[in-house]
Amino acid sequence: MSSTLKIEGLRVEVAGKEVLKGLSLTMHSGEVHAIMGPNGSGKSTLAHALTGHPGYRVLEGSVTIDDVELLTMSPTERAREGLMLVLQQPFEIPGVRSFDLLVAAGADPATLRSRMLDEARRIELAPELLDRFVNVDLSGGERKRAEMVQLGVLRPKFALLDEIDSGLDVDALDVVAQRLVAATTEWNCGVLAITHFRRLLLQLTPTMIHVVSDGRIVATGGPELAVTLERDGYDIFRTTPT
Ligand SMILES: Nc1ncnc2c1ncn2[C@@H]1O[C@H](COP(=O)(O)OP(=O)(O)OP(=O)(O)O)[C@@H](O)[C@H]1O
Ligand SMILES: [Mg+2]
Repeated sequence: MSSTLKIEGLRVEVAGKEVLKGLSLTMHSGEVHAIMGPNGSGKSTLAHALTGHPGYRVLEGSVTIDDVELLTMSPTERAREGLMLVLQQPFEIPGVRSFDLLVAAGADPATLRSRMLDEARRIELAPELLDRFVNVDLSGGERKRAEMVQLGVLRPKFALLDEIDSGLDVDALDVVAQRLVAATTEWNCGVLAITHFRRLLLQLTPTMIHVVSDGRIVATGGPELAVTLERDGYDIFRTTPT
């Protein structure tokens, strides 16, 4: 089944400052889109706002999957609607194991253990790490792999990954990228990847690249846009902060 993720006119305030100033983006199942943009432009704010983080106040706009509004839902309900967020700095959740988190997000407890083990094998994560509390005592790279286990189990309609490539060694980057590409065909997952680096994009081969500057998408293009950005930087897209 094909679904559509639509972010429309999203304005988000953080610590009394408007960081997202009307961000819009549409994508469909099975597609890979990338978001690039300078430090502080609002990329992670988008990810946080989509998780429903209370510090990120939505002033205006909507986020829907197949016309179902997500912004009024709790984080767990959003996950059940098929949106998965992998944050730049994943939260530690002491006292909660991945197993419980996945059950809360809708996974079937009867088959969950074996599915987690399967996914851990695919992503080359030591299985004993699955039993730790969520993100507690895991290395940066292990956290990213653990998040990929969750993705493989939950099979979200859309996954937004905030700098999944940061902190991964080159081998891990390959494994993670391959898992994401496989997800696009295995269950038609739509992948929205925030990144600074073309290395990830060479593996994910996004059809669209969106450039965020000062809280808005200021350019959208094909893979050639990443080449231009690597060569020229973001100067041509920079706007004076308001
Ligand atoms: N919790 C917060 N409290 C205060 N300011 C914040 C908070 N989160 C984000 N900001 C501010 O909002 C702006 C956008 O931050 P954001 O993390 O979205 O940038 P980014 O595009 O993800 O940058 P990077 O490429 O460095 O990850 C920055 O000016 C940042 O300082
Ligand atoms: Mg960020």
